[in-house]
Amino acid sequence: MSIDLSIVCFVEGERERSNKLSQLYGWPVVGEDSGSPCLFYDQGVLKIKWAGCKNLKDAFFIDFLSKKNIHLKKTLHQNPQLISKAMGKKLGVTQVLDMTAGSGQDAYLLWLLGFKVTAIEASPIVFALLQDGLCRLRESLAGPVEHEALDNGFKLVHMDSTKYLTTTTHKFDAIYIDPMFSKKPKSALSPKPMQVFQSILPEPLSSDRDNMIKLARHKAKRVVVKGPLFEELSDEAPTHVYKGKSIRYDMYATVVS
Ligand SMILES: C[S@@+](CC[C@H](N)C(=O)[O-])C[C@H]1O[C@@H](n2cnc3c(N)ncnc32)[C@H](O)[C@@H]1O
Repeated sequence: MSIDLSIVCFVEGERERSNKLSQLYGWPVVGEDSGSPCLFYDQGVLKIKWAGCKNLKDAFFIDFLSKKNIHLKKTLHQNPQLISKAMGKKLGVTQVLDMTAGSGQDAYLLWLLGFKVTAIEASPIVFALLQDGLCRLRESLAGPVEHEALDNGFKLVHMDSTKYLTTTTHKFDAIYIDPMFSKKPKSALSPKPMQVFQSILPEPLSSDRDNMIKLARHKAKRVVVKGPLFEELSDEAPTHVYKGKSIRYDMYATVVS
């Protein structure tokens, strides 16, 4: 599924940004909302009005500075995070590849937990939203030390992650995968990002997910796959399953040649 997308420039002050985005990705800039899915800048924030979104107020954007994320950051070390255990923080895992960046929420959490994260996103729409969110996070940081910590610890790449993995020379200690589900989705994502992704992204194939897992298992000693609590993700039994309330992480300890 590919969707026809345009960038709506509602106010003249957003023209330059809109044109830049258009040059990068090829989406046309238009002056009016035609009712179809569109991207637009709202006071410098890139938002998407997707198929299920009735008015502009409900448009989706990526916000690492939301109240929820500020609370997450403040309370991070009081609440043990299952993802940290699954990724092997205490075992010395540092370099992490997130093969399915999406809204970047999991990658952000991993970075806050002290991992060095490279997050890959294949969809240009999701990537544009994500990059915009990350830029705003960067702008909110106090100074050069914080900027360096973010720049060195949280990298975004716009690419198919299977291609990335087969071409990169970078060594990762662990690989994280959060595939989209073609069955009734019960992802740990909040409903809004899930709705947005389902409306703008192609229906995921289980073969793509399986290939991703297979490839990852040849590239890092630890592969972690996020999924709904009661659903098998791969034919192969994981080495260990970390169970949360509604999700689980299947961990595959693999031998890398
Ligand atoms: C369920 S979402 C991931 C959610 C993410 N963990 C988060 O915290 O928001 C899956 C994402 O993976 C992306 N994706 C799927 N296959 C990919 C691939 N081969 N390479 C890169 N990104 C991929 C999709 O475009 C989608 O944005």
